[in-house]
Amino acid sequence: MSCQTGGQPITFYKEIKGIPFQEAAKELAIRAGIIIEEVKKDPLDHIYHMFDETIKFYQFSLMKTEDGTQALTYLKHRNVTDETIQSYQIGYAPKKSNALYALLRDKKFDVSDMLNYGLIRQGEDGTYYDLFFDKVIFPIHHEKGRIVGLSGRSLKKNDAVKYINSPESKIFKKSRLIYHLHQALPAIRKQKRLILTEGYMDVIAMDQAGFHETVATMGTSLTKEHVSLLSNLTDHIILAYDGDDAGNQATLKAIDAFNQTKVKLDVLIFPEQLDPDEYIKKHGVQALEHHIHHLLKDPYDYRYDMYKNKRDLKNSHDMVAFKDDIIKMIQDADPSFKRYIKKDSPLN
Ligand code: GTP
Ligand code: MN
Repeated sequence: MSCQTGGQPITFYKEIKGIPFQEAAKELAIRAGIIIEEVKKDPLDHIYHMFDETIKFYQFSLMKTEDGTQALTYLKHRNVTDETIQSYQIGYAPKKSNALYALLRDKKFDVSDMLNYGLIRQGEDGTYYDLFFDKVIFPIHHEKGRIVGLSGRSLKKNDAVKYINSPESKIFKKSRLIYHLHQALPAIRKQKRLILTEGYMDVIAMDQAGFHETVATMGTSLTKEHVSLLSNLTDHIILAYDGDDAGNQATLKAIDAFNQTKVKLDVLIFPEQLDPDEYIKKHGVQALEHHIHHLLKDPYDYRYDMYKNKRDLKNSHDMVAFKDDIIKMIQDADPSFKRYIKKDSPLN
C-alpha cells in the first residue's frame, strides 16, 4: 500500500527479482512443486525429440533383441523389475559401433546436434561412432520429465569406468539435475519429505521398496543449486548416502550445505559399508523399514559419533580436538554460543 503498487503474487515475485513474468511463474511453480505445461513451443524441442528417439531405440534393443539379453539378465540379477525398466525407461546400447548414429541419421536428425549433445563422436578418420557401447542406459530427466542426457553403466563387474555420462550441455547440467525428481515429486509432496541417495541404483531400490520419495544427485557432490532446489521442495530431507568412508564424508558436507536452510535433516546410516541398494538386497525391505522408522539420527548425534569415532579419547591431544569439533558444531548451529568460547581458544 505504501508504495502504491498492486498486483498478485507472481507479479510481486517478478518485480522483486527483476525477471520476466514467464520466468517468475516458472520459478514459483518449481518451488511449489507444481508442474506447469509449457504452452509455447520450446526452441529445443528437436533435441528432446532426438533423446526420445534414442531412448526408444535403446529400450527396444534391451527388451526385444538378442543383443539385449545379457543386459536384461544383468538388470534382473540386480532385482530391477520389469515395471521399473518401463517407468524409468531403462535401455541398452548394443555392441555396435554406430547403430544409434545410423538410426538418427535415417530419421534426419542433424549430425551437429548428435555431436553437441554427446550421443556420437567423430573418429580421427572422420567416421562417426556412438558414445554408448554395450551399456545399460539410464535416461536422465529434468524436473518436468523431458530427457536431457543419458548415463550408461558397464555390465562388467570391475570395469575401471563404471558409468559414462552424456557430456555437459545447455540442457544437461549435473550441478543442477536431480535424478528421478520428476517422478518422485508427488510422493515428496505426499510424504512431506525427500530421501537423498548417491546412486541411480539406490533410487531404484528404495523406490521398489516403497520409498517413492527418493532421488539422487548425479555422482557430483551437492551444489548450491541442488540445495536451493531441494530446500524449496520440502522441509524434511533424509540423507541416505553409502555406508562407506566416502559416503560419510559426503554426509558431513551435506549437513553443512543444508545448515543455512530451513530443512530438517535426518541421517540414515547403513552398516557394513553398504549402500542403500546393497542393504536392501542383503537385509530385505522390512529391515529397511525398521531402519527408517527407528534408527534415523539427527545431524548432531551423527556428527558427535563421527567425531568421536575418529579420535582416541584416551589421548589428551585427541580429547581436545574432539572438544573443538563439538564446540564448532554447536557454534555453527547457534552463533550466540560464541560467547562461551574462551578468548584464547583456536576457535576464535
Ligand atoms: P552400482 O555399482 O551400479 O550400484 O552404482 P551405485 O549406484 O552404487 O553408484 P556409486 O555409489 O558407485 O556412485 C554413485 C553415482 O556416482 C552413480 O550413480 C553415478 O551417477 C556416479 N558414478 C559412479 N561411478 C562413476 C564413474 O565411473 N564415472 C562417472 N562419471 N560417474 C560415476
Ligand atoms: Mn550400488
